[in-house]
Amino acid sequence: MSEQLEFTGQVAVVTGAGGGVGRAHALDLARRGAQVVVNDLGGATDGTGGSDAMANQVCEEIRALGAAAVPNFDSVATPEGGAAIVQTALEHFGKIDILISNAGILRDKSFAKLDWQDLDAVLDVHLRAGFYLGQPAFRAMKEAGNGGKIILTTSASGLFGNFGQSNYTAAKLGLVGLMRTLSIEGMRNNIHVNAVAPVAATRLTGGETDEGTRAPSRVSPLVTALCHQSCNITGETFMAGDNWYTRVFVGQAQGWAADEQLEVTAEDVMAHWDTIRDPGNFTEPPHALVSMATLERLRGTAD
Ligand code: NAI
Repeated sequence: MSEQLEFTGQVAVVTGAGGGVGRAHALDLARRGAQVVVNDLGGATDGTGGSDAMANQVCEEIRALGAAAVPNFDSVATPEGGAAIVQTALEHFGKIDILISNAGILRDKSFAKLDWQDLDAVLDVHLRAGFYLGQPAFRAMKEAGNGGKIILTTSASGLFGNFGQSNYTAAKLGLVGLMRTLSIEGMRNNIHVNAVAPVAATRLTGGETDEGTRAPSRVSPLVTALCHQSCNITGETFMAGDNWYTRVFVGQAQGWAADEQLEVTAEDVMAHWDTIRDPGNFTEPPHALVSMATLERLRGTAD
């Protein structure tokens, strides 16, 4: 058995922690000594309504473990809400070491039937919340100078696509783009940023349960490991749940590099689809500027 990962002295903010996956993250961190801000609007799965009950209930569960928790009922979907949630950690615990941006809703519609309210509601709670929470947390971590951990919650639907979820999938993959850039900007300050796609039976996915491999608690081990101070992983995306933990990444195929003298035409592209699309020999550029390195290598101009 490896030594237990301790979080004593660490302050974590978990959004949407009144139930499902967020609650499991909050409980796991608290059990290990973290002080936790339990944020939850307490509304329905489509984002309507609200109540203090869910966040309060999880705070009681955490206190019963002998750990410290403070509830917050603000919405992640506005800049004011995001700022107030981070401020709750600063006011009550004096700092923020960990942000787990997890709150979520669904407004599934086939693309032809999607209306703009359902687009905005989903972009606000998922994608924009990454900014509204991420920026005040990032600033506070940078100012404190002790590094930090940010987890953005993505989804297999966002990573791979899913019928009827154009709003949700665009938001969830957008978070991966945000995560990549924050991980690059955070490097100088030891702020590590990763994205996690949960797999769990919750009220959002139907069949909510705390039992078996689909329990939300099976997502948390990977999130807790990423949030531990000893973990230096940053800029990566993982799927976690059902007792399965795996990395998902964007790879760049080697592609077809035409002779520099050739005026490439659509016909040339058509003739080279197989080489252009062949994922063999892929690379994983660490940032956009390196994405041309494969071409330099193919042309033999690399140092
Ligand atoms: P859940 O419905 O149990 O948890 C989401 C929580 O977010 C709820 O407690 C809800 O009250 C809260 N919330 C919603 N809007 C909010 C707002 N504006 N401000 C503050 N809190 C708000 O669902 P679940 O499954 O635990 O979802 C957690 C996250 O995981 C979501 O981001 C979801 O999209 C993501 N996810 C979950 C998957 C699963 O298999 N359960 C699959 C892929 C992604």
